[in-house]
Amino acid sequence: KQIITIAGGGSTYTPGIIQAVLNNSERLPLSEIRLYDIDAQRNEDMYLIIQYMLEKEGFSDVVISSTEDPEVAFTGCDFIFSQIRVGGLKMREKDEKIPLSHGLVGQETCGLGGFAYGMRSMSGLLEIVGYVQKYAPEAWILNYTNPESIVSEAVRRRYPKAKMINACDMTISIEETIAINYGYDRKNWIPTYYGLNHFGWYTAIYDKKLKRDVMPEIIEKLNGQEMQVADFNAGDQTWQEAFSMMSVITKNFPQNIPNNYLEYYLYPDMVIEHSDKNYTRANMVMEGREKNTKEMAKKIRNGVTKDVLNFNFGEHGQYIVDMATSLLNDERRRFMLIVPNQGAIPNLRPDAVVEVPAYVGATGVEPISLREPICDFHKGMMEAQVAAEKLLVDAYFEGSYQKALQAFTLNQTVPNARVAKKVLDEMIEANKEYWPEL
Ligand code: G6P
Ligand code: MN
Repeated sequence: KQIITIAGGGSTYTPGIIQAVLNNSERLPLSEIRLYDIDAQRNEDMYLIIQYMLEKEGFSDVVISSTEDPEVAFTGCDFIFSQIRVGGLKMREKDEKIPLSHGLVGQETCGLGGFAYGMRSMSGLLEIVGYVQKYAPEAWILNYTNPESIVSEAVRRRYPKAKMINACDMTISIEETIAINYGYDRKNWIPTYYGLNHFGWYTAIYDKKLKRDVMPEIIEKLNGQEMQVADFNAGDQTWQEAFSMMSVITKNFPQNIPNNYLEYYLYPDMVIEHSDKNYTRANMVMEGREKNTKEMAKKIRNGVTKDVLNFNFGEHGQYIVDMATSLLNDERRRFMLIVPNQGAIPNLRPDAVVEVPAYVGATGVEPISLREPICDFHKGMMEAQVAAEKLLVDAYFEGSYQKALQAFTLNQTVPNARVAKKVLDEMIEANKEYWPEL
């Protein structure tokens, strides 16, 4: 039976992950869940929620604890699910609003907000990996901590042998959205995709049942705007936006299906036009998920538990669990994972951190080599982005202002070095508590 530690246990994503773990208890038998967080209050709230879930679902034999002590959290555990967010939503708000106030894209993982978050996040994740090396060197870390390309690169440099899998749920979400809207079953799909994290393209989606590549017909549908997103995940505005953004991108570049995050790099002007610089995604999440979770904990604390767990968990948790069971039972499932390139994309520098299909089994990750070179358009975009990310990681390790400025300037959401410097200087000020000194 497995011991799972959730790093960033207080996160509102935790109940969804635990629900998925419980739903798959045969493949992933559980003895203990440990919630690790540096925010004791949030962690304690989550402890109450999870304890209630375990009881309600008939898993009272599973030990649950919450702790702020890394030694207690990690010693002897089998899996670490890392979803830490260094600086929390308060800092996410700054990542989004500071660039916007200079007329640039304001987003938590793309653009300069993503770079600012990256500088914070590297410290947090390197710390977790360090603890795991010390207290549970045999355990697997399944990492969702953003921005994934940047933190993966940092871990690759400091702990090249870490037993860590870097994954993002975005491709799953894209596939699920497309499948539900156009009447396919994602479970039959073998997609081919390449790129960087939050920055990539589908080149084929083979359907095992239909025995054909369904990507061309999906592109046609996307171009025809035949979407009925309203039926899907009711109320989630971001999905409707994502979907219509994919349509816009495929209209102009109809040979692939893009990750909708490419909107930030291809159409930053459109995105900015639709952004409210006083009310961003961080505000939405704080007033939505965060508040609801707090209220949930409060209700449980007061013994008012009727319908308290009624919320939509999404696919996120299932994805993590499938990865854990793939490792544990050598299931060799296929995922999109973030790995050092090493020839997977043959005409891209080998030391880039890329997102490509990979099989996961008892020995870890086995990425797939694409064999065919990618086109110059994608390659050029990726090369600029990789260089920018590498410069940022250099800046972090070397404490180099020059390299941070180069990274900020090279970011493709940034039109000139003058505004890059302005935002960098403001970010340094805002992130004093978190960034290394530059
Ligand atoms: C997707 C991305 C994650 C990101 C999340 C943000 O799932 O893959 O990398 O963290 O969206 O969602 P939120 O609801 O917090 O804006
Ligand atoms: Mn992601």
